[in-house]
Order: sequence, then structure tokens, then C-alpha cells
Amino acid sequence: MRVLSGIQPSGRLHLGNYLGMMKRMIEYQESSTLFAFLVNLHALTTVTDGEFLRKSTLEAAADFLALGLDPEKSIFWVQSDVPEVTELSWYLSNHTPMGLLERCHSFKDKVARGVSANHGLFAYPVLMTADILLYQANIVPVGKDQKQHVEVARDIAIKFNNAYGDVFALPEPEIEKDLATVLGIDGQKMSKSYDNTIEIFADEKALKKKVMSIVTDSTPLEEPKDPDKDNVFAIYRLFATPEQTEEMRQKYISGGYGYGHAKKDLYELLLEHFRPHRAERERLLADETHIRKVLKDGAEKARAEAEITIRKVREAVGINY
Ligand code: ADP
Ligand code: TRP
Repeated sequence: MRVLSGIQPSGRLHLGNYLGMMKRMIEYQESSTLFAFLVNLHALTTVTDGEFLRKSTLEAAADFLALGLDPEKSIFWVQSDVPEVTELSWYLSNHTPMGLLERCHSFKDKVARGVSANHGLFAYPVLMTADILLYQANIVPVGKDQKQHVEVARDIAIKFNNAYGDVFALPEPEIEKDLATVLGIDGQKMSKSYDNTIEIFADEKALKKKVMSIVTDSTPLEEPKDPDKDNVFAIYRLFATPEQTEEMRQKYISGGYGYGHAKKDLYELLLEHFRPHRAERERLLADETHIRKVLKDGAEKARAEAEITIRKVREAVGINY
């Protein structure tokens, strides 16, 4: 079984990315053929600063490696190092109805928030489809917001297979049942584009500042509070053991436990949770040459797989006269 997922290196990775995608991917390396990659071509739909993209790509790679992604057990690379993906994207465009893309929530949301729509943003799901089909992925673990994009990939694969025979495996999204969407410090979906994230590897001071700025209601310290309506508790429970969660729940209900206390407990929990990974990340970032080598080796493995599919596709569409 082939498991594949990608993440945009378009800024510092956050707790939503970690729980929605990275953690599960890393678990999969033990049981499946794992394809994990940094989708820098997709990041171009929002990032226009080349230096920032270069830096963010290396940092995202360090994040994954520090969190336990093992390049020996999985295929880990940067999207643009396998140029066949843009070639495939063009073939697929010719089997992608406009309506399919017009219905994509992600596109509609961005436009509704005032992002000026260009062709890259509109065609984003086609490039993502190429990512998935090029490696014949079966399972695509993503957060809930990306489910529709994987369904689009499946639709396009079916259309293409109907036209040319069984060229592509049909992918399926895999969404963690217990985890809908991780909320940000303002109570909205945590997202790099909403400026409401808690970064996985923020330094201690920045982490404290972020946690302290989580929006809560104004129930006074001594009064009982409803844990199920609070953003601090919502994040705490994602990282706490069941016992720790229950303990905090009781403190909320009993009163005499303020949001300031809850934030301090959350801060300490996060610090503790990522402590060993933080040290590993520092070590990795001190040697960028090593990170580049890991990524280039990964790209070589990915490209060998991509070659097999792209040959079949060229043959099917008749491009190899
Ligand atoms: P962002 O919204 O911060 O730009 P991406 O769109 O790059 O994040 O998402 C990368 C991966 O992380 C996807 O699989 C996405 O579903 C997941 N993800 C992002 N934000 C969240 C969240 N708040 N909760 C759960 N999963 C998330
Ligand atoms: N669109 C995904 C996101 O924003 C990133 C992505 C690009 C991806 N290509 C992919 C995810 C292929 C899974 C598979 O999160």
C-alpha cells in the first residue's frame, strides 16, 4: 500500500499541520511505503519572496526530520526536484472539467477572503492531482480541509482511466476521525494564512506569547468554566494524556482555576512534548548541506517511481511519437 502526502513550505509549520498530517505520516513509515514531500510549487500560489521560500523549505525539512521522519524508511523529497509532475499536470488538465475546479471550497474561500485569483490558484488541485497520481498513491492522509482535493484527484483519475485504460491507481483521502480541525489562538481554524497559529518549534518566549494570547471569554478566575467552550482546553486535550485532560476538566468545572493558569499548563505541556525534537531540529539546521543531501537522495528515489508512471502516460496519450 502506498501512502502519500505533501505539505506547503509556505511558513513555519504549526500544531494543526502536526496533528492533521505530519504525525500520522510519520507513523505510516513503519507499515507502508511512505511518500512525503514538500510542495514548493504549490507554495508559489501564496509566496512571492524567493529567499523566504528557500529558507522555509529547508526549515520544513528539518521539522519533519526532527519529528522522526526517517529518510531510510520513507521517500522524502521536494516536489520541484521531480519535474515530471508539471508535465503530468498538463495532461491531466485536459481531463479536468472547469466546474470541478470551480466547486473547490479552498479556491472559493481564498477568493472570498480577497485573494486575487490567478490561474495557479485555480489550477492548484490539478497539480495536487498530479502529485498523487504520479506516485500511484492509494491512501492520502490529510486534514479535513484537503479531503475535497483528494476527491478531485480521484475524479480526474477515473476520467483519465476511462479514456485510456487503467493507468492510475485510485486514491482515497484518510481523515483522522477524532481530529476534525485544530483551532487557532482566535478560535478559527489554525492556518498559516490566518496569522493565528502556534508554531511547533517557536522558541520558548514566542511560544509563551502565543499561548498567552489565546482568546478566552471573561469568566472571572473564581467561577466555574465550561471546558468544552474554551480554546485553551481544546488545544490542551490534543496533547494531554486522558488523565491530564480529566484533571484539567475538573479544575475548570470546580472554579478557582483561571484561564491564566490553564494557559501556563498548556505552555508547559507543549514545551515538554516537543523538547527532544526541538534539540534535534537545532542540530539539523546547523548543517544545511546535510539536509539538502537527504532531500536530493529522496528526490532520486521519487523520480525513479515517477518515471514509471510518466512513461505509461506518454504512451497512453500518444506524446511519444
Ligand atoms: P495552512 O492552512 O496552515 O496553510 P496547509 O493547507 O499547508 O496548512 O495544510 C497542510 C496539512 O495540514 C494538510 O493536510 C491540512 O489538512 C493539515 N492542516 C492544516 N491546518 C490544520 C488544522 N487547523 N487542523 C487540522 N489539520 C490541519
Ligand atoms: N494542498 C495540500 C495542502 O495545502 C498540499 C498538497 C499538495 C498535498 N500536493 C499534495 C497533500 C498531495 C496531499 C497530497 O495541505
